[in-house]
Amino acid sequence: MSKSEKRAIFVCQQCGKESLKWLGRCPDCQQWNTFVETVIAAPVVPSRPLSPANPPQELSQVDIEAAARIALPLAEFNRVLGGGLVPGSLVLISGDPGIGKSTLLLQASALMAREKGTVAYISGEETRHQIKLRAKRLGITGERLYLLAETDLGVILNQIEQLSPSLVVIDSIQTVNIPELGAAPGSVSQVRECTLRLMQWAKLSGVPVCIAGHVTKDGTIAGPRILEHIVDVVLYFEGEPFSAYRLLRSVKNRFGSTNEVGVFEMKEQGLVEVDNPSLAFLSQRGEEAKGSVVVPTLEGSRPLLVEIQALTIPTSFGLPRRTANGVDFNRLLLIAAVLTQRVGLRLGNQDIMVSVAGGLKIGEPAADLGIALAIASSFRDQLVDPGLVVVGEVGLSGELRAVSQLERRIAEAARLGFKSCLVPKTGARVSPSPKEIELIPVSTLREAVSTGLVKRSDN
Ligand SMILES: Nc1ncnc2c1ncn2[C@@H]1O[C@H](COP(=O)(O)OP(=O)(O)OP(=O)(O)O)[C@@H](O)[C@H]1O
Ligand SMILES: [Mg+2]
Ligand SMILES: [Zn+2]
Repeated sequence: MSKSEKRAIFVCQQCGKESLKWLGRCPDCQQWNTFVETVIAAPVVPSRPLSPANPPQELSQVDIEAAARIALPLAEFNRVLGGGLVPGSLVLISGDPGIGKSTLLLQASALMAREKGTVAYISGEETRHQIKLRAKRLGITGERLYLLAETDLGVILNQIEQLSPSLVVIDSIQTVNIPELGAAPGSVSQVRECTLRLMQWAKLSGVPVCIAGHVTKDGTIAGPRILEHIVDVVLYFEGEPFSAYRLLRSVKNRFGSTNEVGVFEMKEQGLVEVDNPSLAFLSQRGEEAKGSVVVPTLEGSRPLLVEIQALTIPTSFGLPRRTANGVDFNRLLLIAAVLTQRVGLRLGNQDIMVSVAGGLKIGEPAADLGIALAIASSFRDQLVDPGLVVVGEVGLSGELRAVSQLERRIAEAARLGFKSCLVPKTGARVSPSPKEIELIPVSTLREAVSTGLVKRSDN
C-alpha cells in the first residue's frame, strides 16, 4: 500500500475493535451488528525537523510549578479532579442525557473565566441563544466567557488558538468532527481522531480541555472505550432522573486518586455543592419507619450514610415480584433467598421492593446487611432502632463477612449522631475504639435480625 492510499476497514462502534472483514458480532465486546465500514487514510509519518518549541528535557529539570493545579472555587469538582485542573490535561465528563453535563461545564467555565481569564466554550449541540438562556437561569453574566457554536474541529482549533484561553470546553465530543475523515460525527473514527487532536493541542498549549461525552443505553461512553484510553481524566456524572442529587465520580485520573466522588444538587439556579452529603441523604428520613435502615457506605474513599427502604407485601397473584432501585437486583435475590433459608422468613409468597433514598446507587456488598434488615423489618413489622446503623456482607450460608474501611464508616455514623452499629464479628475490631458509638458484633444474619429489630413489645 502506498503512503497516501486509503483503505477501508471495519470498526466496532462499541469498543473500537478493527477488522478487515465485516463481523456480525464483535469478538471483543460481544455486541451484535456494531461493525461499520470506515475509510482510513494510511498513516503518513515523515521524519520532521527538530522542533525548537518542544525539545527533550532532563527529568530533573522539569518544572512542577508550571504544572500546578488550577483549583476552581467549586470544591466538589476539585475534589474529584484530585485537587484541581492540571494544565494541559484532557478531561472527559460523561453521563446520561439531561443529567447536567452542560450545566456543570458552564458553571465551571464561568468560574474559570472569573479567576483565570478567557474561556472558550464550544457547543456543537446548542445555539448561543440556548446557552445564554441557561446562563441567565444560572446567574452567569459571562464576562470573558466566549461561546462558539461550531462542529468542525479544524475551525474550532483555529478559533481557540486565537483566543488563547485558560480553559476550553467542548460540548460534546460526539458532535465535533473532521469533515475530511468522511465518517459520520459520533462514529468511532471521528471521536478517536478528534480526541487525539484535542489531546495534542492541550499538551502543546498547556491549556486544560474539558469535553462532555454522551453515554449509550448500557452505560458506556458512546464512541467509546478508546475515548477513555486517550484522555487523562474520566469523570462520570450520575444520578436518578427523579432525584435532584448528582454524583461526580472519577473513574480514571492520571494525576490523582480515582476514589473520589463529588456530590451536587440540581436546583433551578444550577448545580449546588452538597458539603454534608450524609445529612442531605438522611434529611427526609422518618424516625419511626418500618423497613428503613441506615447504612454507612463508601463512595470511593468517602463515607456516606444512606437510607435503605424495603417493603414486603403478600403476592396477590402469580409469581412473587422483586424490585430493586439503587441496589443490585441479583444481590437482592440472593439476600431474599438467604433470609428465607437461613433466617426462616417466609418470603416465597411476598413481593419485595427495595430502594435507596435520594436516588443513590449502592454497588458494594457492604450494604447487604442493610438490605436484609430492611426487608426483615418490613416483613416482621418491627422497627429498626433509629439510632442504629448496620454494615456487613451476607454470605450464602447466612454468615456475615467483614467489610473494608470500617473505621471510616463508623466515624461518619458517629459524626451524624448514631449510637450503635451492627458489624460482622470477623474484622469488627476498630482501633482506637470509638467512644461515641457502640459496636455490636454479630456473626450470622439470623443473629443480626434478632439483635437489630426492636422487639414488638416495646414498639
Ligand atoms: N428550571 C430548571 N430548574 C431546575 N432544574 C433544571 C431547570 N432546567 C433544567 N434543569 C435541569 O437541568 C438538566 C439539563 O441539564 P444539562 O442540559 O446541563 O444536561 P446535559 O447532561 O448537558 O444534557 P444533554 O445530554 O442533553 O446535553 C435537566 O434534566 C434538569 O434536571
Ligand atoms: Mg448538554
Ligand atoms: Zn466491540
